[in-house]
Amino acid sequence: MKVLLLLFTTLLFGCNQQSARQRGTQLNSVPDPHTLTDPSAAVVRHLNLELAVDFATKELTGKASWVIENLSNSKEIVFDTKNLSIQKVTIGKEEHDVKFALDKQDSILGSALRVPVEATTTIINIYYNTQPNAGALQWLAPQQTAGKQHPFLLTQSQPILARSWIPCQDGPGIRFTYNATVRVPPALMAVMSAENKQQRSDSGIYYFKQTKAIPSYLLALAVGDLAFQPIDSRTGVYAEPVTLKKAAYEFADMGKMVTTAEKLYGPYRWGRYDVLVLPPSFPYGGMENPNLTFLTPTVIAGDRSLVSVVAHELAHSWSGNLVTNATWNDMWLNEGFTTYFERRIVEEVYGVEEAKMQEVLGRQSLSAELADKGASNKDTKLKGELAGRDPDAAIGDIAYEKGYAFIRTIEEAVGRNKLDTFLRQYFDKNAFQSQTTEQFLVSLKSELLDNSKTLADSIRINDWVYQPGIPNNAPAVGSNAFRKIDSLVFKFRDQPLTELRQNVTSTNEKLYLISRLPVDLIPQELIALDKAFAFTNSGNAEIQTAWYVVAIKHGYRAAYPAIEKFLTRVGRRKFLVPIYTELIKTAEGKTWAKEVYKRARPNYHPVAYNTIDALLR
Ligand code: BES
Ligand code: ZN
Repeated sequence: MKVLLLLFTTLLFGCNQQSARQRGTQLNSVPDPHTLTDPSAAVVRHLNLELAVDFATKELTGKASWVIENLSNSKEIVFDTKNLSIQKVTIGKEEHDVKFALDKQDSILGSALRVPVEATTTIINIYYNTQPNAGALQWLAPQQTAGKQHPFLLTQSQPILARSWIPCQDGPGIRFTYNATVRVPPALMAVMSAENKQQRSDSGIYYFKQTKAIPSYLLALAVGDLAFQPIDSRTGVYAEPVTLKKAAYEFADMGKMVTTAEKLYGPYRWGRYDVLVLPPSFPYGGMENPNLTFLTPTVIAGDRSLVSVVAHELAHSWSGNLVTNATWNDMWLNEGFTTYFERRIVEEVYGVEEAKMQEVLGRQSLSAELADKGASNKDTKLKGELAGRDPDAAIGDIAYEKGYAFIRTIEEAVGRNKLDTFLRQYFDKNAFQSQTTEQFLVSLKSELLDNSKTLADSIRINDWVYQPGIPNNAPAVGSNAFRKIDSLVFKFRDQPLTELRQNVTSTNEKLYLISRLPVDLIPQELIALDKAFAFTNSGNAEIQTAWYVVAIKHGYRAAYPAIEKFLTRVGRRKFLVPIYTELIKTAEGKTWAKEVYKRARPNYHPVAYNTIDALLR
């Protein structure tokens, strides 16, 4: 029996010579406040998922078969669920029915699914279906897609929404491999955060395999009228057929980005790197789903000026997907490092000046957020304090830009070469594992700073990580192109806009200009600016958002039809929040915002409408 069991386990896990570390089975012992499970008792190792996608009922119906390991002879294994209907749970290949319990629902965390197990239990089969309002899922009508012919389904699992479409142990410190079989209507194609086939299947059945151990927040599925176009031998684009060409043009540098990233921080370990261009209601700019980054179509500006989002999501293949924040309190490890890595890729592929401009724009938005939150706000610490709160509510520039500025501070202190060597080792040593902030700081101090207290003090590690605000040893940022714009804006009222028009041509420059405009613009000036730069009808969503905020601030009515169109078409939260926030500052604006929102809301993902609901309440 023992031998059989061993053989069985070997078959399940593939090669038994792989170490626990390689399999990603080493657990981080730190408690995670956002999962109801206890992975140190009994933990998941592999998922066999079977799903049927029903657009008519907006339901996923499925069976999640989990291969588990009962680590401490536990009497039960716990899964996270949120708004799932559980039909039945069975044990083993033989599928013995078992009596499960579903705890009372917590409004943030959902409900724990408790399944009794024995020491030797290795397979748990959960039969379930999702609810139409599942937090991770967005069901789009044909009208909401680019092609307008077929419906579309997309998922967004980060940070704690995977549990709303798959019963799982939903913490970033818990990793597993997965296989999936997904049945979709025959005209549609399914893709996942795994190896993808690039082709439509006549049967409407798709098989997926993710052979690298990933955390649950990287589970992802999209279903729609999709086609694939390669960029080079290991990169490519999935998009609706009408978008495919434009997308392939925009992301032509993807292959180069991967090669560049590898030169910086070591081999890309996931096989292929593809991107999926989604309908505009996708709530984020990008999501680093393994093998297949999910992207908003708003990064397709036509001139490749917003492709740093791709560099960012690609960088997560190291900082995030390979070495993962142990809990959402450590999210700056994911996003801060990725922002740093992103700008290093941008610097290599597009030049130093481009990277510097993006750095300045990043620092600007960090300063704005600090001013808005107040520099003593505890939510401005790098290490998050999110227990009892929805980790989604805390997403902002702190993890990204304060995290970035911290790493830049370290870079200044030790030099780029030493930092790069350290990071390469760090990704290698911790591959397919998670890290807490504290674990990272131990490596930093011992491996990069050679335990030098003087160096650690000069960097002011503790202030950066555990204190609010931003320490005053943050490296200065600046760009020559932007300095030129400053000097021209200084003379803004003394001369026609011709010189400004000649010097402000790129997307970055336009964004910077908009951020530096006088605060007391008069109507004629807004009209003149719009005439010179055509901001209102720009096809660049970053420029549109920045300009619309200025337009609203100054009651520039000519922009309102375009703003309304934008708000009803685009569902990217990063754009919606500043526009609605500016609108609701006046009573009149708030009334209009609510009117527009009534029409726009059906087009938003739950991630976006939950935020805007709270804003407009
Ligand atoms: N992983 C994030 C998106 C995310 C973070 C989703 C936290 C849910 C919780 C992704 O990598 C990201 O940072 N996207 C950015 C783009 C990036 C260039 C700053 C976005 O969506 O705007
Ligand atoms: Zn990111």
